[in-house]
Amino acid sequence: MACGHAVRFLVTAVLIFWAPVFLEGSSADAPAQTPPTQLPGHNALLMGTDWYPEQWPEERWETDLRMMEDAHLNVARIAEFAWSKMEPGEGYFQFDWLERAIRQAEKHHIAIVLGTPTAAPPAWLTQKYPETLRVDENGKRALHGNRAHGSVTSLKYKELCHRIAEEMAKRFGHDANVVGWQIDNEYGYGMMSYNDEARRQFQEWLKAKYKTLNALNERWTTTYWSQTYDNWGEIPIPVGENNPGLMLAWQQFTTYAWTGYQHNQIDAIRPHADPRQFLTGNFMGYGFDPIDHFVITKPLTFVAWDDYVGTGHLDPDANGISHDAMRGLKRENIWIIETQPGFVNWSPLNNSLDKGEVRAMAWHDVGHGADEVSYWQWRSALNGQEEIHGTLVGPDGKPEPLLPEVAQTANEFSALQGTFRDTRVVSEVALLQDYESRWAINWQKHTEKYDQFAIFKSYYHALRKISQSMDIVSPDVALDQYKLVVAPDLCLIPKERAQHLEEYVKNGGHLVLGPRSGLKDEFDALLPIRQPGYLAEALGGQVEQYYALEKAIPASGPLGSGEVSVWAEFLTTTSPDAEVLLRYGKSNGWLDGQAAVVTRKVGRGQITYIGGMLSNDLVAAAAQWMAKSSGISPVFGPVADGIEVSRRTGGNGSVFVLINFGGEKQSVALPRTMQSLLDQHETKQVELPQYGVAVLADVKTK
Ligand code: GLA
Repeated sequence: MACGHAVRFLVTAVLIFWAPVFLEGSSADAPAQTPPTQLPGHNALLMGTDWYPEQWPEERWETDLRMMEDAHLNVARIAEFAWSKMEPGEGYFQFDWLERAIRQAEKHHIAIVLGTPTAAPPAWLTQKYPETLRVDENGKRALHGNRAHGSVTSLKYKELCHRIAEEMAKRFGHDANVVGWQIDNEYGYGMMSYNDEARRQFQEWLKAKYKTLNALNERWTTTYWSQTYDNWGEIPIPVGENNPGLMLAWQQFTTYAWTGYQHNQIDAIRPHADPRQFLTGNFMGYGFDPIDHFVITKPLTFVAWDDYVGTGHLDPDANGISHDAMRGLKRENIWIIETQPGFVNWSPLNNSLDKGEVRAMAWHDVGHGADEVSYWQWRSALNGQEEIHGTLVGPDGKPEPLLPEVAQTANEFSALQGTFRDTRVVSEVALLQDYESRWAINWQKHTEKYDQFAIFKSYYHALRKISQSMDIVSPDVALDQYKLVVAPDLCLIPKERAQHLEEYVKNGGHLVLGPRSGLKDEFDALLPIRQPGYLAEALGGQVEQYYALEKAIPASGPLGSGEVSVWAEFLTTTSPDAEVLLRYGKSNGWLDGQAAVVTRKVGRGQITYIGGMLSNDLVAAAAQWMAKSSGISPVFGPVADGIEVSRRTGGNGSVFVLINFGGEKQSVALPRTMQSLLDQHETKQVELPQYGVAVLADVKTK
């Protein structure tokens, strides 16, 4: 199509004849093997779109695919809502149309990711088997006409999901142009069914976990309010507030149910699929937490997530947290299987990202470990709930104004793909996140102002500014690669976890615990030891009491001066070598003059406890101190505020992505003469307008 060709011409005029750059001078060790996100025989960086051929006459497909190819897109995810087209009647499968779409895409060098359609069961199915529909907390069954209406605990539903996934795999499991599978879509937002079938399964799960009712009653302290259970059948599904032990168990069961739902489809696909075809899901970033993602992503080949800004503009910290957290689930590169083509339709204000911001966002994704970025969606259906969502192609079938920017970025991805091959994000600093701790705090915030994300983000922001590279991982994985590990809100520290963390410290790491750490065990029960529980002895100090604050209070000490607000815990030291780094000023009398931050050297490392929610200047000072005492320096070098630096490292060295997220044009002095890869020249300085991007590598010295 003429306009598609015009787009292609525009961008190829700028970028031609790229040779992969071989990097030199690694400053961090990184495994050299290819990440599973980089597919053999394909570019290491891919760009694509989410395409719904079932919504369009077949005569149109050729035009769409040619336009995609012209825009340098090389992957499309399809079919994830097309159940009624693939199985129009029970047991009657129609895949010929899908086969034709896949073949046509192949002709245009567009690899296909197949989505299983189980987020959208068809009307014949829900009509014939109403038990497959989700039932909400009030006993109301979902109606047809939306999506995510299937019940995760319905055995009938899982049987039908298994069958469609298996039939798809039988047909396409060896298809050369199908590179992988996305199971379901967003896993029903983690919603559960509240019916007898679900309750029975929950009770069975509890039985398998606790073995005896005595054990369960003891762990949940059910003597409180006469909650004692005499048989498994008495245990309810918690709705609203309930015993914290029961609430945690239900959330763990939610994870178990969705993981089982996913497993059901893995079992259907794997036996019929080439091992080269990956399996992933479409996850939703850091903020989405009804399911423990460390558990559900375990059996997948890699993690993919859908990255939307919604209202406003890209906040590199908030979005960086999601990227790093999703990357941290399997400690491996990721895909952005959906992202925002300018604007969405579901946020309070669906403003567009600015010109240049979509490109900046794509490079920000890559900097944080993404090897694929895919725009949702190519063209919107002429009817349906998402008619007025942003797209790459308009209802008239012509490119939207954004398409040339996407095409330019896709062309840059292709040009630099060799440079990014086998590279990963390698960091010396990690934040710990734990879904169960997050749930526990959210259920008992104690002050509605307790905003876990704000605390998490304040540490992320301050530490990333210094280190320029951060990981976000589970507290239970090997931590020895990190010089500094910060747990802003690790409420649940059972004995085994404490031993693991203490081991990390003794072996030379620096562990920093934030407020509310080590209050509880793995059953969401209080530990009969003062915070940080099993780590109090190593700290040589303990929390005497916690206070939800009415107003901010001053705090000062060797760490710096500032304020503590919302939450304050005062500590005492129990060991002569424990050092107090911050004390509260005048407050409620209880806190006046008491220790807010305590640190102690243990073995070859150090452990620190921060008992209050620190003001941003104090977090910045604390981060400086942590970095200095742990030997952390920036991976690139100092840059002005507003410039985001990311680094990816492979066996041959490092490549840096610099993006100007500040409002003004900036000149960035490089730490040494480097190769600027997007415009192919050697330089000691780059000029970055707002949303400007530079990709930099060290110059070969041979
Ligand atoms: C989600 C879904 C998509 C689509 C987009 C719209 O990510 O997975 O199907 O609804 O949101 O932003």
